[in-house]
Amino acid sequence: MVNLTDAEDVNPKGLSVSAENDADITVEQNTDTPVDEFPAEDLVFDASDLSVYYGDFRAVRDVNMLIKRKEITALIGPSGCGKSTVLRSFNRMNDLIPTARVEGTLLYRGVDLYDERVDPVEVRRRIGMVFQKPNPFPKSIYDNVAYGPRVAGRKKGLDDVVEHSLKKAALWDEVKDRLQESAIGMSGGQQQRLSIARAIASDPEVLLMDEPCSALDPIATARIEELMAELKDEYTILIVTHNMQQAARVSDRTAFFSVEVDETSDRRTGLLVEYTNTEKLFSNPDDERTENYITGRFG
Ligand SMILES: Nc1ncnc2c1ncn2[C@@H]1O[C@H](COP(=O)(O)OP(=O)(O)OP(=O)(O)O)[C@@H](O)[C@H]1O
Ligand SMILES: [Mg+2]
Repeated sequence: MVNLTDAEDVNPKGLSVSAENDADITVEQNTDTPVDEFPAEDLVFDASDLSVYYGDFRAVRDVNMLIKRKEITALIGPSGCGKSTVLRSFNRMNDLIPTARVEGTLLYRGVDLYDERVDPVEVRRRIGMVFQKPNPFPKSIYDNVAYGPRVAGRKKGLDDVVEHSLKKAALWDEVKDRLQESAIGMSGGQQQRLSIARAIASDPEVLLMDEPCSALDPIATARIEELMAELKDEYTILIVTHNMQQAARVSDRTAFFSVEVDETSDRRTGLLVEYTNTEKLFSNPDDERTENYITGRFG
């Protein structure tokens, strides 16, 4: 089984593999992708010519992205361009969709995430996901946060994990006196921060967020955006958003996806058009399609 060890002790070049099956799984960093912008040890994901299919339908293609540690990367683009599909591929959530299939390479800390020896459960622990709609279990606030560690077999120190996670998610002060109350009674914004706390409780390195604010009012949204800025000190974050101002406010890098109609099949395939630092993408994009989208002429 491939061991996705902690970022801190990972050999930047490559890989952390368990003793039984060394070597053969090591994947060298792509040499054709420039990494000169940041040191190799800061490289968390390296997606290379990634496509995602549902059956024989290619939903999205041309995904080439280097994701830097402790940065916020935003994925933007019109509906159906494959943002959620790509995001889900980053923690193998697409595995849960029987027809979904990934082509190309996706390295996480130099490990091929789709190697059959990689344990998807471990992947999802290290790379947590926060969904558009907060979906607390009909359990207490405490049990919601403790859920992941309990499933992983942890019995001791749960109080500390719950407190730490709720503090990190900027929720502790609001709920510390009612940890045994049902999570269902919380406001939408609180539930979304609870989802973040739940992900944090599993001690991830990366947080994937798919439109985490789309169901929230502006105040709750601002709260989550503030929280993301704090979380960046410790976590690498990928966020899908329809809100371009939000992408511009919170992210360091932005990937713009568009859709093309395939003439033979008449199907719409998403593709990564431009991926660069956020300021540049919104002020001086290289691609006309990006320009048209951010100025509201398309999509
Ligand atoms: N489970 C699935 N099975 C088959 N096709 C799917 C599935 N999920 C998504 N698709 C298709 O893949 C393409 C990309 O969808 P995806 O949901 O990733 O887009 P998106 O950019 O997140 O859109 P939105 O902004 O509306 O959330 C679409 O054509 C969609 O119909
Ligand atoms: Mg989506």
